Amino acid sequence: SKTLDDVKVAGQRVLLRADLNVPVHEGKVSDLTRLERLAPTIRELSEKGAKVIVLSHFDRPKGKVVPALSLRPIAEALGTVLGKPVAFAADCVGPVAEEAVAKLQNGDVLVLENTRFHAGEEENNPEFAAALAKLGDIFVNDAFSAAHRAHASTEGVAKHLPSFAGRLMQAELHALEAALGNPVRPVAAIVAGSKVSTKLDLLNNLVAKVDILVIGGAMANTFLAAQGYNVGKSLQEADLHDTAREILKTAAVKGCEIILPQDVVVAEKFEANAPTQVVKIDAIPHNAMALDVGPATVAAFINRLPEIKTIIWNGPLGAFETKPFDAATNVLAEAIALATKEGKIVSVGGGGDTVSALKLAGYHEHMTYLSSAGGAFLEWMEGKVLPGVIALSKDLSNLG
Ligand code: 3PG
Repeated sequence: SKTLDDVKVAGQRVLLRADLNVPVHEGKVSDLTRLERLAPTIRELSEKGAKVIVLSHFDRPKGKVVPALSLRPIAEALGTVLGKPVAFAADCVGPVAEEAVAKLQNGDVLVLENTRFHAGEEENNPEFAAALAKLGDIFVNDAFSAAHRAHASTEGVAKHLPSFAGRLMQAELHALEAALGNPVRPVAAIVAGSKVSTKLDLLNNLVAKVDILVIGGAMANTFLAAQGYNVGKSLQEADLHDTAREILKTAAVKGCEIILPQDVVVAEKFEANAPTQVVKIDAIPHNAMALDVGPATVAAFINRLPEIKTIIWNGPLGAFETKPFDAATNVLAEAIALATKEGKIVSVGGGGDTVSALKLAGYHEHMTYLSSAGGAFLEWMEGKVLPGVIALSKDLSNLG
């Protein structure tokens, strides 16, 4: 894709697709990370004299105007992050948007109302995309985290305007390429989470691409049960045992080493500070459930770190939001942070829970790169083509 280095933006109306879909609690933005990650692109455009028109969805209003899902408070928070006034228009197309755009001076920033207030957004309706495109001279997409959606503001609009990747989009693509596209080997992936069923495509893609695959979280229970271990009351998917065995077989054929837990932390109840026990996987009590991978498992993987050059991480190893089931995740995060700091590995993490877990552990700033994306990060790791990214690399020569 072309970037901001390839275009003169001074005096231009720049339609910037951002991802302002941030966590909001009681009407206030509760985590500014996405806004902070977006800010450099807006600052650069503004300093270069562009009229910056920010487009984004927020939550899932399903094509209707839902006042509680207005972008207005998020536009205010963006102004605070940028340290400059940000204008707001109460619609993203039509006269209200057009008048607000017409008022902009070079360097000004305007946020348009939630694109998902119009059904045309998710339908990727061509007229709606054209109405958006009318507001700008060029399109810049900085919303990697929404690039898995083929919507009017991510994909459709790029058909009408010269299109470029913003700085955050560029950074995301660069990091993911380094982790999975063309990584320094050996490359290890850590995949965890509650279900095999939601990460099937991911597991199938990774066994063909990485050298070592660590499986943790409740999804590891399904693999252990598929291998004949009794997992007691642990969360698992009994109907996916065949699938789990297939994945193990494919991994063996492709030369991907699978690391499953050798010990687990169990409790009779899933609650904070419940009495726990560390047991070997062949000794899980009938009335207990595995809620974290055990210390021997983590230590065994940490011992392998010196031979690994690239790590890609999606999913906390245990039920990290409830102590003490965050222990394995924290210990592993610390070891990866250290190896990264010493320049021994490239570490890339992504996905909503993974980022929260690394933040709680205090190591989110120590990874080589932490993606701002949830679903889009997962789809990229699944080997899928992201419509918002593809739209940026199309040939625009026919636009004249
Ligand atoms: C995200 O937060 O992952 C993106 O903004 C996409 O949101 P969506 O899942 O509602 O499309």
